Amino acid sequence: MKKSLKSIARACKNLIHNINNFRLQRSILTSSDPAFKSASDNGSYPELALRAALNPGIFSVFRRHTLYTPILEHVSKKQGEEYLAIIQEDYGYSTNEIIEAISPLLRIGQPILHKIKGLPSPVSTTALRYLKVALEIKALRGKNIGHVVEIGCGYGGQAVILDKVAEIQSYTFIDLWQVNMLIKRFIEASPLSCSYSVSTLREAARPRNSWDLAISNYAFSELPKVLQKKCLVDIILASQHGYMTMNSGIEGGFGGVSNMSLLELQNALPASSVIDERPLTSSRNYILTW
Ligand SMILES: C[S@@+](CC[C@H](N)C(=O)[O-])C[C@H]1O[C@@H](n2cnc3c(N)ncnc32)[C@H](O)[C@@H]1O
Repeated sequence: MKKSLKSIARACKNLIHNINNFRLQRSILTSSDPAFKSASDNGSYPELALRAALNPGIFSVFRRHTLYTPILEHVSKKQGEEYLAIIQEDYGYSTNEIIEAISPLLRIGQPILHKIKGLPSPVSTTALRYLKVALEIKALRGKNIGHVVEIGCGYGGQAVILDKVAEIQSYTFIDLWQVNMLIKRFIEASPLSCSYSVSTLREAARPRNSWDLAISNYAFSELPKVLQKKCLVDIILASQHGYMTMNSGIEGGFGGVSNMSLLELQNALPASSVIDERPLTSSRNYILTW
């Protein structure tokens, strides 16, 4: 009798713990407190993404819009030249192969195009970055990369370029709900050959080994720690391998918000390695792979 009362008490305690945990998670995810939001979840950028998704006129120029370029599409001409040199020297891509690979990102949304020495016509330097990242992922993981999830995807440009150089079985985009609408519009207008779905962080939880590869460039690292922990449990630990460009420094801190340090990430992902970001776009950046 004493024993069964004890186990009922333990079950009640666990239940209360789980309810409190659920309430905390829900309040974090629905909070308007900036401490629970990334730098890009700033009101004006997600609203612009939503307007671009719904309005053909705004969609036709969104990639050069003044509310959009502080968050994305700001790779400089000099960085573009450095990405081009890596694509040519490390991966042996010819001019024709480069133009062919980045062609889906040269027109839709009217990005600012830069004349880069060695290329026959002006290009989007952001597209060159996506190509360099795609080639690095292919070098690390091989041509068949399976089921992919990306956290913080912009308009989906990385997926479109990765799909040009590797075999993808499916692609899950995870972003803010307003941004997901823009991703849908962009992907429906682009030649992505694999099946895809879009989710918010709240919708995305999956069990272990659901994805073969998790990608997050300048995105997971910009989330506050509470959201990073949710991402870690629901997405990153559910992915066998990963590639994340981190712009929060070794100690963890982006845009005045505290987030996970490299040590905390390494404890959570014991099989991970650190590689250099090339070109280094900010002195605190590193790439985490596992
Ligand atoms: C700096 S952009 C990086 C975009 C893209 N990865 C790239 O390399 O160009 C940060 C991305 O994180 C997304 N983001 C911000 N808060 C988020 C959240 N709570 N959940 C998912 N994505 C979020 C933004 O909408 C944006 O797409």
